[in-house]
Amino acid sequence: MAIENLKKVQLGHYPTPLEKMGNITKMLGKGDLYIKRDDTTGPAFGGNKTRKLEYLLREALDTGCTAVMTFGGTQTNHGRTTVGAAVKLGLKPILVLSGGDTGYLSGNLTLDALMGADIYFVKDPAKTQEVAREVIKKYEANGDKVYVVPAGGSNPLGAAGYIMSVKEILDQMKEQNIKIDHVVCTVGSMGTFAGMILGAKYFKAPFDIIAVPVSPAPKGQKEKDVVKFANEASQFHGLGVTVTEDDVKIAYGPDDVPYSGEAYNKPDPVTRQAIITLAKAEGIMLDPTYTGKTFRGFLDMVKDGKYIKEGESALFIHTGGAMALWTKEHLDDMQEQLRANCNTTEM
Ligand SMILES: Cc1ncc(COP(=O)(O)O)c(C=O)c1O
Repeated sequence: MAIENLKKVQLGHYPTPLEKMGNITKMLGKGDLYIKRDDTTGPAFGGNKTRKLEYLLREALDTGCTAVMTFGGTQTNHGRTTVGAAVKLGLKPILVLSGGDTGYLSGNLTLDALMGADIYFVKDPAKTQEVAREVIKKYEANGDKVYVVPAGGSNPLGAAGYIMSVKEILDQMKEQNIKIDHVVCTVGSMGTFAGMILGAKYFKAPFDIIAVPVSPAPKGQKEKDVVKFANEASQFHGLGVTVTEDDVKIAYGPDDVPYSGEAYNKPDPVTRQAIITLAKAEGIMLDPTYTGKTFRGFLDMVKDGKYIKEGESALFIHTGGAMALWTKEHLDDMQEQLRANCNTTEM
């Protein structure tokens, strides 16, 4: 079946806004800079996982599943969106989270619990699958059928969401009569980036896709992984396009202070500065784990002209996750700098 006709459930609000970042465009004084608000997809505040889940949870319903299980770190955005999507569809949400019990609910975890997810903390990430198997057995013994969504919703079926997002962007470019030369997104579990590379080839888009990684990685490995993932997805959907390493553009940033920061989800001042820049200029909130890092890369790419040349237009994909700003570790990290805005009065 052509990917355009692939069955899905309706979970999000589309098209997500594609808007010019007027103040950022003025501030940098190069080409027109746009943002695609995939942070507004919904449900449960949405983000990039919604597009993937629309295809995955269609399969869950079609195969008679009554519960949905997925995985991630304790603050997984993917987990939170999956829980929101599951409850909307009347499916039981189950999260198996690696990193151990935080003992305190903040950020995404608060929302997961508010939506009634059954949460299983696993201390040793290597034991996650073992715990998942035990949990599935428990639910099956109670008559449930559990649909397992892979971490990040990234498998060939889920990738359909971001393959098709390219068509949405092309339609918006036509409607708004704008040109876009480059699209910049985040790469973690790869479904978003690989999907967009495939979509750009399949729909013959006039832009390339550039990604910023969420955690430090040796250069070269992620490129190979993305090629493999993208070509599997292309075959799965019968797209008839092939992705090579030339199509996979990953911007790592300076060796001493890479865009990915020191580690996954570790607060760092340069990412924080990028978050503050967008918040102050456009009133749009990024997150410290994914989109803040990518936006730092985006600003650099426009400034240094390496990927985005003077006068070219670029689109930043906001993939969501701002609720990480309300996690204890990030709140603690930001206090000193942000408290500088506060004034105590005598009244
Ligand atoms: C806010 C946000 N942006 C980007 C990503 C990365 O997307 P992907 O896993 O499809 O590479 C994630 C993954 O969890 C995310 O939560």
